[in-house]
Amino acid sequence: MGTIRLVSTMPPRSHLPAALITTRFLVRPTTAMQALQRELGDTFMFNLAGVSPTVMVSHPDDVKTVFTAPHEDMPTVSSSSSLGLLLGPDSVLILNGPKHLRERRLISPSFRGERLRPWGPLIDDLTHSQIDRWQPGQEITLQEEMQAITFDTILAIVFGMKDAARQDALREVVVDLTKRATSGPRSMLDLVLAARGRLAGPMERLRKAMDEVVYAEIADHRGHSDLESRSDMMSMLMVARDEDGSAMTDQELRDELVTLLLVGHETTATSLAWGAERLLRTPDALQRLKHELAEGEDGGAAYVDATVNEILRDRPVVPLIGRELRAPLTLGGYEIPAGQTVNVNIWLANHRADTYPEPFRFHPDRFLGKRPETYGWIPFGGGIRRCLGASFAEMEMRHVIRALYSRVEMSLPDPSPERPVLRAVTLAPQHGARVRIEAIKERPEPVVEAAEPAAAA
Ligand code: HEM
Repeated sequence: MGTIRLVSTMPPRSHLPAALITTRFLVRPTTAMQALQRELGDTFMFNLAGVSPTVMVSHPDDVKTVFTAPHEDMPTVSSSSSLGLLLGPDSVLILNGPKHLRERRLISPSFRGERLRPWGPLIDDLTHSQIDRWQPGQEITLQEEMQAITFDTILAIVFGMKDAARQDALREVVVDLTKRATSGPRSMLDLVLAARGRLAGPMERLRKAMDEVVYAEIADHRGHSDLESRSDMMSMLMVARDEDGSAMTDQELRDELVTLLLVGHETTATSLAWGAERLLRTPDALQRLKHELAEGEDGGAAYVDATVNEILRDRPVVPLIGRELRAPLTLGGYEIPAGQTVNVNIWLANHRADTYPEPFRFHPDRFLGKRPETYGWIPFGGGIRRCLGASFAEMEMRHVIRALYSRVEMSLPDPSPERPVLRAVTLAPQHGARVRIEAIKERPEPVVEAAEPAAAA
């Protein structure tokens, strides 16, 4: 019988100075992580300057071990980030233990497929309206264009927001927050302050402005007696009860709504931008997608699904997820002690040749008739913290991709690939996916009336 040899030493670390690793990581994050894996193997220590070294894992066995370890032994490290301070102490993304489970139980019913499906026509409508603003010959940054769609989608589905002035106020503050969180030196300052439990002055002002709108919207919702029949998520969260029969407080609602808003729109927009960045540089995949959309069975549904899976595999927008060990854990044959942080490296996990041959080739066909691997395709993380918005994001991507690639001909102002760069905690295309619009077809007649699900008003 084979035995697993446990060694007491920690996983290997690079002999390069931490300052050099940090510079490489900040400039070319994915290349830097791949180089470390080539040099050190699947399980290694990742040491950035000024940060305690973390254990990096990406082998499916280790991914499984982390995702299935007892919840209480694996708190998230997100709480000590500027994002954590913006989201608030009751955010599901920040909480650990029983409170985290409570919030997940209250929120997850709103994300069920049957609740989301009726919103499809609204996403189509928002996408077509955005496309109608473009002109042939124009160069656009798809990341921004997609963000406009995903933001309005969240306002409608999560907030059920009708008031145009409030929508504009929230849009303005979120755009400012996102810019600040993704602008190199200022975001580094924010990170340093966050480690001390504080938000920088301008961030604090933006947080207050955002809270004003969110609390006004909560108060408006509370004033309605028909919440049970409404389909926006805020109404659903207000009527949700936990096992003891208690409802969410205004503070909890605020923290969850802000979480869904901030983590729900940019991630999806960036994935859609990556989709265009990859598809336009992979002509056979683009041609096949267009062909399937025009002539495929069920409007090319299977190929659209495969394309979404491949975008999320090849360009996962969240590259790393961190946990702090509360109990020792065996990873890659090493016994990792309690107190150590561990990062699941989504980028490396999704690009393993033993799981997906030719891992750096963008090839949606690999997912035709084949479901993604549970621990080898992890753009949404896994286990008890798996992304609550995964079905939401996938549905939104399917709708936007359908509308975009059946109506718009695009070309590349610069054919060289856009490399992945770090924008706060996400990996985005270096230039935001720049494209030139060549031609736009007429907006199709909606198959179903483009309206919100019943009683959302
Ligand atoms: C393509 C788009 C998206 C990607 C790649 C993505 C990725 C992720 C990942 C990797 C995690 C796990 C974090 C961890 O384990 O620490 C996560 C958590 C989460 N995501 Fe997403 N996400 C996306 C879209 C969305 C959307 C649209 C929403 C909601 C509207 C959302 C809401 C959440 C929430 C609430 C959590 C926290 C879950 C928990 O801690 O229990 N995400 N997401």
